Amino acid sequence: MELKIAVLPGDGIGPEISKAGVRVMQAVCEKFGHKVSFEYALVGAAAIDAMGNPFPEETYQICKDADAVLFSAVGGLRFDNNPDAKVRPEQGLLAMRKRLGLFANIRPIETFDCLVHKSPLRKELVEGADFVCIRELTGGMYFGEKFESDDKAYDTCVYTRSEIERILKVAYEYARRRRRHLTLVDKANVLASSRLWRKIAKEMAPQYPDVTTDYMYVDNAAMKMIQEPRFFDVMVTENTFGDILTDEGSVITGSMGLLPSASTGESTPVFEPIHGSWPQAAGQDIANPLAQILSVAMLFDYFDLKDEAKVVREAVNASLDACVRTPDIQVEDKTPFGTQAVGEWIADYVTTH
Ligand code: IPM
Ligand code: MN
Repeated sequence: MELKIAVLPGDGIGPEISKAGVRVMQAVCEKFGHKVSFEYALVGAAAIDAMGNPFPEETYQICKDADAVLFSAVGGLRFDNNPDAKVRPEQGLLAMRKRLGLFANIRPIETFDCLVHKSPLRKELVEGADFVCIRELTGGMYFGEKFESDDKAYDTCVYTRSEIERILKVAYEYARRRRRHLTLVDKANVLASSRLWRKIAKEMAPQYPDVTTDYMYVDNAAMKMIQEPRFFDVMVTENTFGDILTDEGSVITGSMGLLPSASTGESTPVFEPIHGSWPQAAGQDIANPLAQILSVAMLFDYFDLKDEAKVVREAVNASLDACVRTPDIQVEDKTPFGTQAVGEWIADYVTTH
C-alpha cells in the first residue's frame, strides 16, 4: 500500500514525539513493504510565528492531499499566560478539525497492567478498565456563536439532528465491534441541546437491538468513571463533555502519556496523542512518545492494516516490559530513557520481530 502522511509536529514536545512516531511508522512500513512518504507542515504557535496563522492554507492543502495526518501537539506558555492574545495556537487545532470535517474523535481509555499503580485510583478499581469515548468534535460550544465584551460573554451550544445522528452512528458501530454497551452522556435534565441528543438516541436505539443503550448525566458519569470505570464500554458525548471526561479518563488509567486518539469524518483522518504540548519539557528529550506511537497503531487500524497495528502495540508493550521507559513511567531503581531512545528501541523491535 502507498501512504502519504502529513506530519504536523506543532509546539512544545510536539516535534520530539513526532520524530519518534515517524521513525516507528517508517520501520513498520519497511517491514511490510508499504511505500510511505511524509510531508511536514506548520501548525499552532510554530505557524503563528512563521506565517501569522495557526492553521495556514498551505497546511490545510497538505492535510487535504494526504491519506492521514500525524499530529503531535500545539500550545505555548506565551499564549497560556496571555488571555488577551488575539491569535492562539489552539485555534489551529480547531480550524483543522472544522476544515477537515473531523466530527468523530475516538479516544480509547485503556489501562496497562504495569502502570496501574500510577493511577490515583486503587488498583482493584481500575485494573482491566477499557472503554472508548466517542467525542463529537466539530459542534457544541466550541463552534457555536460567541460573544465577548468586558461585562458580558457567552458561548452557544448548538447541535443539529444530522450532527447528532452521524456521531451516534459511529458510536453504535464501535459498540457492535466491542462489548455492545453504549452510554450516552449528556445533561438532558438542564440543557435543550442534550435533550435533542437523548431524543435522537432513543429513536436510533431500536435499530441496534444487539447493543444495550443507557443514558447518563455528565455529572453522574464523571463520578461513575472514578467509582466503577469498568462499567463503561463505549461512551458517546458532545464536544465539551468529551473534552473534560477524556482528561479524567486518561489520568485514572495511570498512563496519561500513553493514550492515543483518532479523529475521523469527512476528509483526511488525524491521529494524535490525547495529551498537550508540555512546553516546560520542550527540547529536553524527556517526553513520553508512546501516545504518539500508539496513534500510529490507530492509523494502521484505520486502513485495516491489522498486523501493522499489532506489531506497534507489541513493540510498545515490549518496551514497557524491558523498562525502556521515559522518566514519567520509569520504575524507581532504573535509569530513565530519552524520548528518541524509546522511539529507536521500538523501531528496532519492529524491524527485528
Ligand atoms: C483536546 C485539547 C483541545 C480541546 C484544545 C487544545 C483546544 O484539550 O484535544 O482535548 O479542547 O479540544
Ligand atoms: Mn482536552
